[in-house]
Amino acid sequence: MKIIIAKDYQEASCLAADIIEKAVRENPSCTLGLATGSSPVGMYQELARRCAEEGLDFSKIHSVNLDEYVGLEPTHDQSYRYFMDDNLFNHINIEKANTYVAKGVGDVEENLREFNAVLDRTEIEVQVLGVGPDGHLGFNEPGDTLYDGAHKEVLDESTIDANQRFFASRDDVPRYAVTMGMGNIMRAKKLLMIVSGKKQDAMKALLLSDKIDPKCPVTFLRLHRDATVILEKSLADEIGFQI
Ligand code: GLP
Repeated sequence: MKIIIAKDYQEASCLAADIIEKAVRENPSCTLGLATGSSPVGMYQELARRCAEEGLDFSKIHSVNLDEYVGLEPTHDQSYRYFMDDNLFNHINIEKANTYVAKGVGDVEENLREFNAVLDRTEIEVQVLGVGPDGHLGFNEPGDTLYDGAHKEVLDESTIDANQRFFASRDDVPRYAVTMGMGNIMRAKKLLMIVSGKKQDAMKALLLSDKIDPKCPVTFLRLHRDATVILEKSLADEIGFQI
């Protein structure tokens, strides 16, 4: 696992964009695994800038997203389809038809069959990740066991608390989500995690302990051959981590 300490969020976003840019330039028709949440927003802005000003070309790129809330229409402003259009796809020259965000409405089982079929035929070049305060990846919540493939998750109360800030009230936060499984994430050729916000506990488990613990899914990153974690210096200092 490669760990990069960035001086601030801006630098973290640029360093993360460098990794995506390299993948896109080396293989202009690769599939990117993308993530929502506030952590990758700065990287998406930087990629949009490089597309507009530096000719970074997404015209043949495909993408697949980590997860989606169950019960939100793609037009809902908190759905992850809406988030991706609004934060990235509308600002780069990617073909929308080449972007996949699992459906959150309709028949969940059918949606999961489709999601798994997409993942089975896709090789993800770089999977972008954020991390939940409880260590969740995508929506793989802590538990005694984790899942290999795409599945439905019941969101932890702490996840509902953490994501409440994006909704009018706590009651509006969906209770279920569909997510890539840990196996789907671990099969990506590269993992790129951007850590921002209150992630002290998750980062202590990842960086200061040797345990691989399903009760903190982010610790599985340590098993990947090509994982990069970018965190801000303030967070590294707070948990007493040094390279
Ligand atoms: C959600 C997403 C995760 C994301 C997490 C952290 O729960 N499902 O993929 O990593 O939020 O979000 P943030 O980056 O806003 O802290």
